[in-house]
Amino acid sequence: MNKNFYITTPIYYPSAKPHMGHAYSSIIADFFARFKRMDGYDVHFLTGTDEHGLKIQRAAEKDNVDALEFCNNISQTFKDLSKTLNLTNDDFIRTTEIRHKNSVQHLWNELKKKDEIYLSKYSGWYSVSDEAFYNDDEIEEDNGIKTAISSKSPVEWMDEESFFFRLSKWEKPLLKYYKDNPDFIQPKSRRNEVISFVENGLKDLSISRKSFSWGIKVPDNDNHVIYVWLDALTNYISALEYPNTKSKLFEKFWPASVHLIGKDILRFHAVYWPAFLMAANIKLPSKVYGHGWILSGDEKMSKSKGNILDPIEIIEKYGLDPLRYYLVKEVSFGNDGNISKEKLEDCINSDLANNYGNLCQRTISFALKNCNKKIPEEIFFNKEDRKILDNFSNNLEKIRSEIDKQNINYYIDFIVNGLFAANKYFNDQEPWKKKDDPIRLNTIVYTTLEIIRKLSFMLYPIIPESSLKALKIFGINESEIKLSSISDHNFLKPASNINSIDILFKKTEKKDD
Ligand code: MSP
Repeated sequence: MNKNFYITTPIYYPSAKPHMGHAYSSIIADFFARFKRMDGYDVHFLTGTDEHGLKIQRAAEKDNVDALEFCNNISQTFKDLSKTLNLTNDDFIRTTEIRHKNSVQHLWNELKKKDEIYLSKYSGWYSVSDEAFYNDDEIEEDNGIKTAISSKSPVEWMDEESFFFRLSKWEKPLLKYYKDNPDFIQPKSRRNEVISFVENGLKDLSISRKSFSWGIKVPDNDNHVIYVWLDALTNYISALEYPNTKSKLFEKFWPASVHLIGKDILRFHAVYWPAFLMAANIKLPSKVYGHGWILSGDEKMSKSKGNILDPIEIIEKYGLDPLRYYLVKEVSFGNDGNISKEKLEDCINSDLANNYGNLCQRTISFALKNCNKKIPEEIFFNKEDRKILDNFSNNLEKIRSEIDKQNINYYIDFIVNGLFAANKYFNDQEPWKKKDDPIRLNTIVYTTLEIIRKLSFMLYPIIPESSLKALKIFGINESEIKLSSISDHNFLKPASNINSIDILFKKTEKKDD
């Protein structure tokens, strides 16, 4: 069985500092990367910045700095954010790097060789904010300003010589590919959108620009720069050393397992990217997942709308793990979701402090007092103990298959229910009344500790730092976290030490600021 897993985030425009929407894509990708690693996969997790194009050129001009210098600065804030978010990315690619430039130009030459590119003239609408071309029927006019209906971004008329990619030729092969690979575009609702877009007919795509210079030059034609989306999408293979398709990285990790993206950029990933790859005779990624948006009120959070929530500010105030937990749990994956300080505080208090934190603290303090600070030795599981433990072993395969469908909602529900069930089990079993029945007392403590251990393993991809803190109870370190061991009901070694730990989550008091 292939145990390699390659996951990517979109590469972010360094036109302004990162916001919560960017943090969301990255945290979700990190969740999958960590999950797969703890399930024994060899994982490659890529993120980075998308630095060319008119949008960036204009942003740099506005600040009166050289475009590369502008990108160096903001790209660094995205790199720093990766650390702050505790991402386990294996690479961070910048499209201004030479490795990427070579790769893009090679891909261009391949397409050219295969007669997929021709020179003509583009006349039509272009949104610099989206770096996208729009047809007449995709434009509306509001107060004399023309905008793209889908993104509400202003568009401008473009009239210039341009190289074109024969996208129209790939209409039927794409539709066939979607049909033969029903999981390629997820979630399902997005798949239908893409199919109907392609069924409406594809026009050849303008893939070079002549009227500005901030980009990768078209090989043998210095007057044109390559369209920023053709440039950007190639990052997924340039980071694997394409065109060296015999490189270890490329052989191991291409095709990608999942391109995780926001729903706003589905067309680029599910139509243009597979068409470029088919045309260049390169395998297609297994899946493109378009997640929902983080909203501010009813609107997408974005720089141009000025409704941004700064992830750094939230992390400084509440800590990283509460934010990670909130985004994974409270934004139902695949749909749009909201974040507010109030909801975050509720989530910290109810789920993290009262449910998980409380389970850990009350169990350890009981065990420290009554079990000689050791994992109990003499135990005998009864039907009730087995039932709560077997819930994990019986569902291990289901957990794996739901995660392969990116069903994060199933995963988090399983954990939350598990935490409730464990707290209830401890209450109902009343170990404090079993002082004259040491085997029963020991078994209840052992069972609850085993459940804490299993749930902490499962929580590791979501709240890694807190899960590791909890696992200090047993002296378990990161390299020992293996998903398969949630099926083992005797993982904790009898007579080994139980350590006390600091409070995992502090309850927050409601504040107005
Ligand atoms: N540079 C392109 C992507 C190229 S990928 C080959 C781009 N960059 S972006 O910075 O504008 O946005 C990148 C991604 O950030 C979005 O697709 C989405 O994944 C995430 N988000 C940006 N705003 C968002 C929200 N408000 N909510 C959730 N995610 C959003 O597009």
